[in-house]
Parts: sequence; structure tokens; C-alpha cells
Amino acid sequence: MVEYRAPIVVVVGHVDVGKTLLLDKIRNTAVAYREPGMITQHIGLSYLPWPAIERYAASLLAKFKLSGKIWVRGFLMVDTPGHAAFSNLRRRGGSVADLAILVIDALEGVEEQTKESLFLLKSRGIPFVVAANKVDKIYGWEPHPNFAFIDSYEAQDEAVQGRVEEMIARIAGELAEHGIEADRYDRVADYSRQVPIVPTSAVTGEGVADLLVVLAGLTQRLVRDRLAVGNGPGRGVIMEIKEEKGWGTTADAIIYDGSVRRGDRIAALGLDGPFNTTVRLLVMPKPLDEMRDPEDKYVFVDEVKAAAGVRVVGDSLERAVPGSPLIVVRDEAQLRSAMSELSAEAAAIRIEVDRSGVVAKADTLGTLESMVMYLRGQNIPVRRADIGPVTRRDVIEASVVRRRDPLYAVVLAFNVKVTPEAEVEAQQHGVRVFQNNILYRLVDDFLNWHREQRN
Ligand code: GTP
Ligand code: MG
Repeated sequence: MVEYRAPIVVVVGHVDVGKTLLLDKIRNTAVAYREPGMITQHIGLSYLPWPAIERYAASLLAKFKLSGKIWVRGFLMVDTPGHAAFSNLRRRGGSVADLAILVIDALEGVEEQTKESLFLLKSRGIPFVVAANKVDKIYGWEPHPNFAFIDSYEAQDEAVQGRVEEMIARIAGELAEHGIEADRYDRVADYSRQVPIVPTSAVTGEGVADLLVVLAGLTQRLVRDRLAVGNGPGRGVIMEIKEEKGWGTTADAIIYDGSVRRGDRIAALGLDGPFNTTVRLLVMPKPLDEMRDPEDKYVFVDEVKAAAGVRVVGDSLERAVPGSPLIVVRDEAQLRSAMSELSAEAAAIRIEVDRSGVVAKADTLGTLESMVMYLRGQNIPVRRADIGPVTRRDVIEASVVRRRDPLYAVVLAFNVKVTPEAEVEAQQHGVRVFQNNILYRLVDDFLNWHREQRN
């Protein structure tokens, strides 16, 4: 029998739209309705079991005649403090995230970084639902704590209902400019064509039930095949590398297939190519109800199964690049195939070609891959793409291009610093270095300059 894991759901959007508060609200809701011992904590992630959601959303499920018809086990939710974190959820040109919640401020609509989220969702092919959050701020809104949106909506004045509809129409209109057809979730006929919009409030909890039910619907209709898991050697992605006192270097990873055990050999990508090491420890946060002493936050585990977030402790992990795959290998043949797979993957992302094009630098494998995808989408050729700060060598590469094609003789620095030597070199050779932490702004700045130079 095939086993299905919980989908990995990433929460994305512009700053301050309420991503973290919405996740807190969802988690607290699930905690309030859980069976003992059911909520498991993960590194920067939280797992929500379906039975808790089912009890919370019971009346809504009954309304849609869905009671007992949902086979989704639960959701593994990932908050993203910034786009780098989102980009690092990469998996060979796609994403480890199976689904996403794009949070939009109901009063602000589509904002600058919403556009960047949209690009990432589209380029990585992630189905998503829009949470039109802060619906409680709509003028005249009467809060009904923890009500389903549709129930609370029914209880509002006609004038307020009108404002809600205007808000939804405005967001749908703005999304249409990005080629996305969207509508209020209970009017969506075809999930594979239209994006559902769920008005929510992370403060009152209104709409949270609707959001979770829509996620379950998307899971069953659109991503089922991705969720079939084996029980063999695990596969995951490294999100973050950290130095932890007493442990040495640790890697926070999301495991999306199979399992990883203490003592396993794992292969990953470093700046200088693939390497492998042994898992010394696997660390998880303590379950919420066992966290009495704040100093004693973690438990050591022997095995972790997909889908899960885990902190891995092992030698040489400082070599790993965020966004790198993590591949468990349990024999020599698996090790050889993992090492060659990793080399091929590195070659696909880190470009080094002898032709005209820009030099692209980014801080992680995930951001670099997003950047190269974006540049290709804009028909901008890339001569060199690599991870790390802008160095003298990058500037020299760009100045070589200048002889052939001065309009591409630039360095684009995404989320990285420029070394002082590189700055001096850039001055001397007259090479422009564009720097930004927002991808499309970085590329826009370059394109504007490119147009000016041409005229
Ligand atoms: P970043 O992680 O910085 O990008 O922000 P975020 O998207 O995680 O937003 P966060 O959850 O930190 O919320 C930002 C602010 O908006 C906080 O002051 C929240 O109290 C407020 N806020 C979030 N959701 C709601 C909501 O539904 N209604 C109201 N009225 N305020 C909200
Ligand atoms: Mg946040």
C-alpha cells in the first residue's frame, strides 16, 4: 500500500501582512483541539494533524458535505521570514513546498514583495491559496472570533459585505495583471485553473477554518502524487547552516522522502562541490507540553521520517550551502550515484560559460537558482553565476565582457556584499555593480540602465 505524507505548506508574502501571526493562530487553534501528544514541533516548522483541524472546522466541513471525506494527514507548515528562505526550499528547479499560502493584506492588496512571491510560486510551479488577511480591519467589520469566514460574512451588514466583495474584486484584478485568475474560494469551480481567495484575520481567527479546508482540497486535487513516500534512505533540503554552542555546525533540514537515522551517511553540496559526512545527532524541539525548563528545549532522536524538519549535527557541515539537497546513502553504490547527481545539479545552477552575459552573484544555492531563472525569463544572458560576495574575479569577468558587449558588462549582486578589492577594481575598470535584496528591483535597475546606455 502506498503511504502519503503530510504536504509541506510554505507561507509567503510581503512584509507585515501577518504570515507569522496567522501561523500562530493556526497552531494555537490546533493545540486547543488536539488529542494529547498530537502536536509535534519541528525546527522552524510546525506540524498540524488533520484530526485537530477536523474538529475545529467541523461545521464548515458539514456545510460543504466534506465530513469524513478528507484523507490528508495534516500539514507541515513553514514560515518564511524572507525570500531567501523561500528560495532555499528548492528541489531541482522546483520546490520542496507542495503548496503555499500567499498572504496579502486585505487593505493594501498586491504589494512589491507580493510580486516577487508570485514569481517564485509560478517559476517553481507551486499551487497556492491567497489569504486576504486583516479582514477585521475592513470598515464596520463585526468580529466573530474563530468563525468560518462564510459564517462571519453572513452575519455582517450589507454595507460591510459590499466592502468585502470590493476588496476581493480588487485583489482578483491585481492578480489578473500577473496572469492569475482568482476568486472567492467558495466560487471557484476548478482549482487547477483558478486560485482561491480566503479572507482571514490572524487576530480574530475568522477564516482560519476555511483556509485549512481549502488547503486540504488543494492537496487532494492537485498534489497527491507528490506525497507518496517510500521508507528507504531519506531525501531533503538544507535550509540553514548554524554554529551551535556545544554541538558544532548544524544543518536545519526538511526531509520530504524516506527517513534519516543517527549514524547515516549523508551527501550534500558545498561551495567546492559535493561532499559527504556522518549524522552524529538528530535534534528536534521538545513537544510543547514537555517544555518546562526553557534551557532544556531539545530532544535527541534516532530517526526522522518524511515529512519533517530536523536539525542535523555532523562534521564538515559548515561546507554545505543553504538550498543544497541532503541525500541519505546507505551503501557505496548509493554514495556514488548521490555524488554524481549533486555534481550535475551544481553544474546546472552555477554557470561558467565563455560567452557574453552578466555576472550573477547570490548568497545561497536557492537564491542563485531563482535569480538565474528570473534573468532567463527576462532574456538576459548570464556568463557567470555563483554563490558568495562579489570578488575581484567577478569584476574582471565582467570587464572581459565589456570588450564584446558593454551593455552586459555588469555584476548583479543579490543579497550579497561587495568586497573592498572588488569595489576598487570596479572603479578602475568602470564596471557597474548593481546590488539589491529584492530580485525584480535588482533586475529592473539593471534593465533601466541598459536602456539608458542604448539610447
Ligand atoms: P514579516 O515576517 O516581518 O514579513 O511579517 P509577517 O507577515 O510575519 O507579519 P506579522 O505576523 O509579524 O504581523 C505584522 C503586524 O500585523 C503585527 O503587528 C500584527 O499584529 C498585525 N496583524 C497580523 N495579522 C493581522 C490581522 O489579521 N488583523 C489585524 N488587525 N492585524 C494583524
Ligand atoms: Mg513573520
